[in-house]
Amino acid sequence: MVITSQKKHDYKKYVVNSNLQYFKPHATKIEKTFSEEISSSLNRSSKFVNPKFFYDKKGSKLFEKICLLPEYYPTRTEISILENLKKNLPPFINDKFRIVELGSGSSVKIRLILDIFVKLQEHLEYFPIDVSEILTESSEELLRDYSNLRITGIMDTYDGGLRFLKDYDDTKNLILFLGSSFGNFSPDDGFEFLKKIYSTMKSNDLFLIGLDMVKDKSILESAYDDSQGITAEFNLNVLSRINDELDGDFNLQNFKHSITYNEKHNRIEMYLKSLVNQSIVLSKPNLVLNLKKNELIHTEYSHKYQISQMTDLFTQTGFEIKQTWFDEKKYFSLTLLSKN
Ligand code: AVI
Repeated sequence: MVITSQKKHDYKKYVVNSNLQYFKPHATKIEKTFSEEISSSLNRSSKFVNPKFFYDKKGSKLFEKICLLPEYYPTRTEISILENLKKNLPPFINDKFRIVELGSGSSVKIRLILDIFVKLQEHLEYFPIDVSEILTESSEELLRDYSNLRITGIMDTYDGGLRFLKDYDDTKNLILFLGSSFGNFSPDDGFEFLKKIYSTMKSNDLFLIGLDMVKDKSILESAYDDSQGITAEFNLNVLSRINDELDGDFNLQNFKHSITYNEKHNRIEMYLKSLVNQSIVLSKPNLVLNLKKNELIHTEYSHKYQISQMTDLFTQTGFEIKQTWFDEKKYFSLTLLSKN
C-alpha cells in the first residue's frame, strides 16, 4: 500500500486484523470543525444546520429505520435497481476493481454490489468512507460473511476521504454514492462535489451514483413526514447532538419537524420550527441563540431530478454517461459514469 507521508500524518491508523483496518483523522480536527460550523450556521439571520451532522450514531440508526418505512420509497426502489445490476453491471467490468463507498450506508446495498464482484474476482477490497462510528459495526458484519474481503475504513468526511483516495495506488476504483445522498447538497456544493469526484478518479475508474427522480408531490411529502414520526425524530436528533457535543440546552419539546416540497427547485426542504420565543445557550462555542416563535432552522434539502437535468449535470462536470438504470415506475435512478 502506498500512503504519502502527508496522508499518514493526517490520519491515525488502527489495524484490527489482517482483513480490517481503519484510518481516522486526529480527533481535535473533527471536533473543531463541528463547533465552528454549527456556531457560524446558527449565528445568522437565516439559520441552518448542515445535514451531514445528522449522522452521529443515533442519527445513523434512525436513518436506517427511515429506510424501512412504508412511505420512504427511495431505499427499496434503489435496491430493486441494484438487484438488476447482477446482469447489468458485469459488461462494464473488464478488470479488477476496488469498491469505494461514500457513506458506509445500508449493508443490504453494499452486499448486492459485493455479490456481483465476488463472482468476478478472487480478492475484494472495500473502502467505506464515513464520519460515523457505525462504519466499524457494519465492517465487522461484512467480514463475517465474505471470506475474501479486505476492508479499509476511512472515518472522515467525503472530502477528506476523497483526498485520501486520490493517487492512492493503481488499482481501479468503482466509487459508489448511493441513496440519493447527492440530492442533499445545495446545487452549487453538489456541482463542486461532482468535480471533486471527477478529479479524484483515474482514467479507468467508474462512478455509480443514485438519484431520486421528480414525482407526485404527495408521494414526496409523505416520504419526508412519515406517519410514525421517525423522520421527525431524525430531524430533532441533530439538536440532541448539539446539546451533547457542544454543551447546548436546546429543549426538543420547543421544536417541530416541518417539511415542504419546493416545486420550482424540485426539492424537499426540511426545517425545525421554533414553537416559542426562546434563547438557547451553546457553551462550547460560547453562543447565545435567540429564536422567535415560528422561526425556522433549515436542516436539509433533498433534490429530485428530471432526466434532462441529470444528463446536464453529469456532462457539464465532464463525465461520460455509460448507462442509467431505473425501476419500473422511474422513481429512482442509478447512473454509471466514467471520465471522459
Ligand atoms: C440521506 N438522504 C439521501 C436522505 C434523503 O432522502 O434525502 C435523508 C433523509 N432525510 C429525511 N429522510 C431521509
